[in-house]
Amino acid sequence: MIHHAASAGSDDRNQAGLVKTFEAHFDGLPTHRSRAPGRVNLIGEHTDYNHLPVLPMALQRSVRIVLRPRDDDLVRVVNVDPEFEPVEFRIDDDIPPATAGHWGNYVRAPAQHLARRFGVARGFDGVLDSDVPVASGLSSSAALVCAVGLALERISELGVDAQTLADEMAEAERYVGTRGGGMDQAISMTALEGHASRIDFAPLRLQPIPVPPEWRFVVADSLKRAEKSGAARTAYNQRTVECREALDGVGAELVRRGVLESAPVGYPELRDGVGWDEALSAGEGVLDDVLLKRFRHEVTEARRVEEAQAALLRGSAETFGALMDASHESLRSDYEVSSPDLDLLVSMARDAGALGARLTGAGFGGCIVALSDTAHADGVIEELARRYYDGRGVSGRLEDRLFVARPSAGASFDLLGAQP
Ligand code: GLA
Repeated sequence: MIHHAASAGSDDRNQAGLVKTFEAHFDGLPTHRSRAPGRVNLIGEHTDYNHLPVLPMALQRSVRIVLRPRDDDLVRVVNVDPEFEPVEFRIDDDIPPATAGHWGNYVRAPAQHLARRFGVARGFDGVLDSDVPVASGLSSSAALVCAVGLALERISELGVDAQTLADEMAEAERYVGTRGGGMDQAISMTALEGHASRIDFAPLRLQPIPVPPEWRFVVADSLKRAEKSGAARTAYNQRTVECREALDGVGAELVRRGVLESAPVGYPELRDGVGWDEALSAGEGVLDDVLLKRFRHEVTEARRVEEAQAALLRGSAETFGALMDASHESLRSDYEVSSPDLDLLVSMARDAGALGARLTGAGFGGCIVALSDTAHADGVIEELARRYYDGRGVSGRLEDRLFVARPSAGASFDLLGAQP
């Protein structure tokens, strides 16, 4: 039995180590702690940038910073992982970035954004660690941006609420050259312990939904990194363009058919204006093969989120699992963002007794999420450990790659010593 696979989350980490590192790098002691979790998206994939709903939950894994505010605009952050060199810059409206892909750009991103939006000019010294797997589709970068952004917001006492800050942090990430849809920052900033959240966009709206205590979401990493830079980013951006083209094509066709007077400005307006059936029928008449596939994914995934939300509310794990299976199939064949490794993990999880499984996050590598019940979760983990991970040369601890995700609380900022 692999009981440790339930995972040591960030709460179990030794804070004394962070404080010691702080003392070694900066004179004296840190005064505050800022923390923001990664997330696992349960369903609603590649829909957020089209302002269609998603259903993620925050993880027990987080980015944590112990820090002390400064009296000037300097930010100095040391990462306990020596692979990531220390970062130092002054807060400004135009902060020169480090080289593309450098982790320090995720520290600069919220600083520049908050300087522009709110005139933030007060920096801090901090020591950071993270147990959110990097480049795995679990939003390690959004967790970093949110932990830094929350720290800067609080030490300047701006009084910005968590939801607004989530929106701001989604904007802030543009600094690094990518623009996600806002799901990651929204759940990292606002999640409730024990809950997933149905999220709608533009404007951001969140509805926390309790996760039945006997449900187990197993996360398994394909060990193929889904880098935010490079090929995955190009493919991600291409999908957003294709969705726009599909929407424009469908809108024009509906106007031509006399169903609509003017083309809808977005997917929610299309849904609310004519309904998905009519929209899909217009798409079938006018879109080429690729655009029709992308469009069909958007429509069917948006419907699955509604059904999954209802299944979660009434505690129907079988229905929820079946929707996860259908989501994966759609992401594989219509949206074409899966990979052979993700497909393999998904089918192994199902063979091992999971009620459903799907890739989670942007795809092209990264993780899957599988739903199981209390009785079968250990079996799913043991089977995956044996069939997928044995012989693949996992670097580090297997429990960082294969674990049960606990629905956890969103970001927090507190006085050191004041938290439980
Ligand atoms: C990435 C982005 C999110 C979302 C997912 C796909 O994680 O950051 O905004 O688009 O991909 O669902």
